[in-house]
Amino acid sequence: MTPFKIRELKRTDTEALLAFEAQNREWFESHIDPRDPAFYSLQGVADHIDGYLSGFAVGTWHPLVIEDCNARIVGRANLKNIHSPLDSAEVGYRIGRQACGKGLATMALRHLIQEAAQRWKLTQLVAYVYAENVGSRKVLERCGFVAEAVSAGEKAECRFVLSMPSH
Ligand SMILES: CC(C)(COP(=O)(O)OP(=O)(O)OC[C@H]1O[C@@H](n2cnc3c(N)ncnc32)[C@H](O)[C@@H]1OP(=O)(O)O)[C@@H](O)C(=O)NCCC(=O)NCCS
Repeated sequence: MTPFKIRELKRTDTEALLAFEAQNREWFESHIDPRDPAFYSLQGVADHIDGYLSGFAVGTWHPLVIEDCNARIVGRANLKNIHSPLDSAEVGYRIGRQACGKGLATMALRHLIQEAAQRWKLTQLVAYVYAENVGSRKVLERCGFVAEAVSAGEKAECRFVLSMPSH
């Protein structure tokens, strides 16, 4: 059995989330856009959680964390912009450097796909990935996403789409 579990983000996650994000800041910034420096404080993370939970309450976001057997946060995965456009949402995920290579992003994305279909009744998920992010592209392709378009420019970005049957 996997020693990791996926659960919804909670208001009481402030300290654990700050520790996770601060420890992995450099790692994340080498793959995805940097956060506002103001994020990296207890108040900054508390505001961030408030924003995500407000989005969850109105059904536009579904924020999840992955924790290890010691209740340490080792990853995050979110559905964003749910129902915008209708029946669609964007996926996002990040795994701490030490926890990479264990299949956690794949597990988290499969969980998001299930929530998207069963809870939110969505029929399409999209993801935006920098073309050079080979690990993330592999995770998306393994979960059935198909690369649709690559933006031009210095940092080429790829749009991936997953079409899901409607029930
Ligand atoms: C991309 C990321 C989410 C992958 O997380 P993970 O938990 O290691 O992913 P998984 O273990 O489920 O699968 C990753 C796969 O990519 C492979 N991989 C990772 N980096 C690779 C690279 N540079 N070249 C080739 N393959 C690579 C791994 O070997 C693994 O494949 P395998 O299971 O066949 O061995 C993680 O590295 C991360 O959070 N990066 C920083 C933030 C980020 O990029 N988020 C995604 C934004 S779209």
